[in-house]
Amino acid sequence: MSKNAIVALEGVTKSYGLVQALGQTDLVLDEGEFVTLLGPSGCGKTTTLRMVGGFEFPSTGRILIDGRDTTYAAPFDRPVNTVFQDYALFPHMTVAQNIRYGLTVRGANLSASEVSSRVEHALALVGLTKFADRRPAMMSGGQRQRVAMARAIARRPRVLLLDEPLSALDVKLREGMQVELKRIHRELGITFLMVTHDQGEAMALSDRVVVMQAGRICQIGKPEDLYDSPASPYVADFIGGANLISGTWIGREAGRDRLALGPDRAELLREGQAVAGLSAGAAVLIGLRPDNLHLGDGPNAITGQVVEVLFRGDRIRIEFTPRGLASPIFAEVPRAALKNLQNLGPGSAVTFHIDAGDILLFADEAGK
Ligand SMILES: Nc1ncnc2c1ncn2[C@@H]1O[C@H](COP(=O)(O)OP(=O)(O)OP(=O)(O)O)[C@@H](O)[C@H]1O
Ligand SMILES: [Mg+2]
Repeated sequence: MSKNAIVALEGVTKSYGLVQALGQTDLVLDEGEFVTLLGPSGCGKTTTLRMVGGFEFPSTGRILIDGRDTTYAAPFDRPVNTVFQDYALFPHMTVAQNIRYGLTVRGANLSASEVSSRVEHALALVGLTKFADRRPAMMSGGQRQRVAMARAIARRPRVLLLDEPLSALDVKLREGMQVELKRIHRELGITFLMVTHDQGEAMALSDRVVVMQAGRICQIGKPEDLYDSPASPYVADFIGGANLISGTWIGREAGRDRLALGPDRAELLREGQAVAGLSAGAAVLIGLRPDNLHLGDGPNAITGQVVEVLFRGDRIRIEFTPRGLASPIFAEVPRAALKNLQNLGPGSAVTFHIDAGDILLFADEAGK
């Protein structure tokens, strides 16, 4: 483990009978980091979190927390606490009692005055001081979420585990709670390990995001690095979204790849790091992010026919079929860019262009 490591998974796997929920996994979290496990349903996020929390044991490998082998330690015997997705609050207890409960159970050994001061501090941190004597049933979803946070925090864990903490909240509330979560993380200075399948949430909150697919980690990185340099088409599409189009790699000169798009072989020039293992004529996947397609002619122009124009407030989403391609792709442009194109609609001819540095390129493993 590195000097600042607080949690390390070393060669951890988990199987339930014949189902392998998690393949060979190594992951290190540094002290104070906000790390998020991101991936679609069933990819092993909760399984990973539950093993760190001690609610599930690995089939192989080990888990170190603060340098100690805690692979098989009970949940209360590790410096970790969990905020569960359904909050798991006691309905017959007040908010303060819910928070206090975790401080008086086995292994806590705190004096009465320490318990009171921790409850007060936790309530203040989540902004619920005035609600100490309420029951959870008389509170909103967002407030209950805060109670669950306060209860977990009051035990002063070194690592806080959060499983889809905001998924029960409506969109507006969720955005507010994202800001709160970030503030609480900063004020506490402890490590947060969160699970979500919402890429926007993962990007907004995390220092590092762990992208998972079918029981394995496919990439770990800062949000901006995952967005700018996705390691696979899967990550490109999962983080930020990308149109993935089959093409051909013609060659590379002076740091630029020459690419042919679709059967019409419209030529694109890409700037960026070389992709390993390509030879002339190789099948590739070309990734074009909707945001990076700009209306109008220019270098790397792609012309086609509009299928649909979708209003999204200050952004407009345009579905269009590039000439020579069988399926449509998406572009997303600021509303202002449409000012001189009032009549753009289904059937219209349209031209987009993309900066050479914004084109994503992957070897097409399936197209070989
Ligand atoms: N107790 C269990 N017994 C058998 N299989 C399980 C058990 N728990 C999880 N699995 C399986 O392990 C895999 C990973 O499940 P996990 O709950 O970790 O997914 P997840 O990424 O959290 O998904 P979601 O986003 O739906 O919560 C799934 O195929 C799931 O069906
Ligand atoms: Mg889950």
